[in-house]
Amino acid sequence: MTTTRTPLIAGNWKMNGTREEARGWAAAAAEALTGSTNDAAVFPPDAWLCDVAEVLASAGGAVALGGQSCCWEPKGAFTGATSAAMLAEVGCRYVLCGHSERRHVFGESDADVAGSMAQALAAGLTPVLCVGETIEEREAGRTQEVLLTQVDAGLGALRGADDPLVIAYEPVWAIGTGKAATPTEAAEAHAWIRARVAETDAERAERVRILYGGSVNPDNIGGFLDVPDVDGALIGGAALDPVKFGLMIRHASTGA
Ligand code: 13P
Repeated sequence: MTTTRTPLIAGNWKMNGTREEARGWAAAAAEALTGSTNDAAVFPPDAWLCDVAEVLASAGGAVALGGQSCCWEPKGAFTGATSAAMLAEVGCRYVLCGHSERRHVFGESDADVAGSMAQALAAGLTPVLCVGETIEEREAGRTQEVLLTQVDAGLGALRGADDPLVIAYEPVWAIGTGKAATPTEAAEAHAWIRARVAETDAERAERVRILYGGSVNPDNIGGFLDVPDVDGALIGGAALDPVKFGLMIRHASTGA
């Protein structure tokens, strides 16, 4: 399949970085994107969103801003949570929904993730639906079933064909472990996910960007981006090094 999907190179900073580092990483990402044909986005901790928004805007606004999570309720007594509308107001374009750490550390269910997606869409954000299997699920031969259950829950939050969506396949066992999936494993999972989207909306399936995440670094990113169904990367640890993240932002466009 000849793809016209522009690769999206996204950095999820998780709960890392000082305010000064966040500003520096954002400036470096903007610099790296100059001359690249990829899209790029960064997902800073909420505390630094305004700073990073300011840095990205003054660098021309080409690097998109995203939140790492949003609540499944629009507002109210949810101590510690951030609403989708708040993220939109500070300039976010994206929000991660159902990141592995939200599911497995904070106990978010598929219903919570679907609620977050609904809030994101209502606020005008593009949800990045994150799905992935644990090592136990993979070893039990349940990878496809787990992924499709998570995908179905997320797709259920869409209001119509025009709603924006990005999907990220992040096998839990590959996150932060240095043990990335192989491009072949990613290709299989991405194909399952795209086929599932196609069951309800063939046009969406053609245009939806499906990112791979899990121990992506400058040395292995090329193998993933060469897979036709892989449309970018969601990068954790290696995105905290501005030199490495810059190399990855530029990677696909050079084909190096
Ligand atoms: P690592 O790149 O550190 O494995 O993290 C992946 C991830 O969780 C991105 O959201």
